Amino acid sequence: MKRIAIFASGSGSNFEAIVEATLKGNLGCEVVLLFTDKKDAYVLERAKKFNIPAVARSIKDFLNKEAFERSILSVLKQEKIDFIVLAGYMRLIGPTILHKYTGKIVNIHPSLLPSFPGKDAIQQAMEKGVKITGVTIHYVDQGMDTGPIIAQKAVEITEEDTYETLKEKIQAIEHYLYPETLKILFREDEKSGEEARIK
Ligand code: GRF
Repeated sequence: MKRIAIFASGSGSNFEAIVEATLKGNLGCEVVLLFTDKKDAYVLERAKKFNIPAVARSIKDFLNKEAFERSILSVLKQEKIDFIVLAGYMRLIGPTILHKYTGKIVNIHPSLLPSFPGKDAIQQAMEKGVKITGVTIHYVDQGMDTGPIIAQKAVEITEEDTYETLKEKIQAIEHYLYPETLKILFREDEKSGEEARIK
């Protein structure tokens, strides 16, 4: 059973979907921590509802990003976190955390990467007039939404779509694709661990 921390900065609908999935089915992980960099993020309310310990720290209270990330790392160590799941975390993960969690951080992005990385991906897709966009789940590296892709799902943009309806369609996919992908990921991780033990 992996001990995961979810990092989020906003509403936390993906946080809630993952927590609910862990409570319902065997995802091979337990959400043991919420970390947020926004002290007033709505995701904190959701964590409270599920009794999940939450830590909220603003980068402004630290000397620099390295100090900020070192303070997060000490919480992750204390909670014995195996894996970090980014769900609407609006900050690039820096080398301090990346080095300790290489290959152990995943992110969800509301477009078919490599199209429309960065902020406002849904808006970017609408403005470009593409007919298909979607959702991507990928490993996190030092770049902005550039790590190896794990899963993708396409969403059609119709003539009738507005920003709001498209966002709804994308989030409906995110809420099942993220838990489903984590389940496969942790199952494979478990298997490769077993194989390594047998060898
Ligand atoms: C999601 O659309 C996700 O793809 C993006 O940020 C949004 C977070 O939404 N990275 P929520 O906070 O989980 O509701």
